[in-house]
Amino acid sequence: MSISSTEISPAERLRGIVPDVEIAALGPLIEEIEEWKVRRNAVVLAHNYMTPDIYHGVADLKGDSLALARMAADTDAEVIVMAGVHFMAETAKIVNEQKTVLIPDMRAGCSLADAITGADVRLLRERYPGVPVVTYVNTSAEVKAESDICCTSGNAVQVVESLGVERVIFLPDQYLGRWVATNTEVKIILWEGSCMVHERFNAEELRGYRRLHPGIQIIAHPECPPDVLAEADYVGSTAGMIGWLKNVRPRQVVMVTECSMSDNVAAESPETEFMRPCNLCPHMKRITLPGIRDALRDMKHEVVVDQAIAARARVAVERMLEVRV
Ligand code: 13P
Ligand code: SF4
Repeated sequence: MSISSTEISPAERLRGIVPDVEIAALGPLIEEIEEWKVRRNAVVLAHNYMTPDIYHGVADLKGDSLALARMAADTDAEVIVMAGVHFMAETAKIVNEQKTVLIPDMRAGCSLADAITGADVRLLRERYPGVPVVTYVNTSAEVKAESDICCTSGNAVQVVESLGVERVIFLPDQYLGRWVATNTEVKIILWEGSCMVHERFNAEELRGYRRLHPGIQIIAHPECPPDVLAEADYVGSTAGMIGWLKNVRPRQVVMVTECSMSDNVAAESPETEFMRPCNLCPHMKRITLPGIRDALRDMKHEVVVDQAIAARARVAVERMLEVRV
């Protein structure tokens, strides 16, 4: 997690990250967003997959899903603008229901969140009575409400092991679930969901990078299929990957995840050359600087969660936040 300084001008923040000609055009928009943030007592929380103009230009706090949930719970601001997808905004509302949570585009969804409903979870519970349900945060509030505990890619193994049981139902990402299964003795019952971005990577393209660039480091998100993860030197959440890069400082790297993240991190890692297979998340890319400005100016689009659902979902999310990583 890092904090941007509003003391620094947009041009200074974006210099060397986006072309100078774009800085000239973006500067006034960023200034406008900063003014609206002050008027609304608002904070912009940005996921690591935001484009560099958002990530380096207007984000007050940035991180992976776990960090965003913690930041949303802790913020003193009255308004949270979620520069991320809808489930992240819902999670922010669930953990801090007094706050107004805005998302710049309501269509910013997630293929994992679409892969399962609350009714599906109830059916699974009937099929596996007594088996706890561990739910990835990439799900709707309704699904979280049917779950025992949530997890993110940054804490999934610790969450599963925190329950002290022999087996769990793990929803909805089959690949994250399989990766967890390789890192624990706990038996994992899977659901067949997947991320439309990460499932497109393949092991052969990674072997191609190794052939062309001997010594290159491959770091991958656990939403990738198992044969892709088998090629990786490191597997972790988006924040885990950033932390690994800062520690190891490899000469060359390929980040097997949504490609805006390489752009964001490359700006902070001048010693590393990034190879950039580009799979974009169409949902994340719905969030734009004009959309953030409009959200603050017009106080739209407010994310509302039914109070009864939020109360049940909060138990699962807060239980996750208590697990030490
Ligand atoms: P992280 O929690 O690792 O940031 O992942 C969120 C996500 O949506 C990955 O596709
Ligand atoms: Fe969902 Fe995949 Fe996009 Fe992440 S990258 S928000 S998991 S569709």
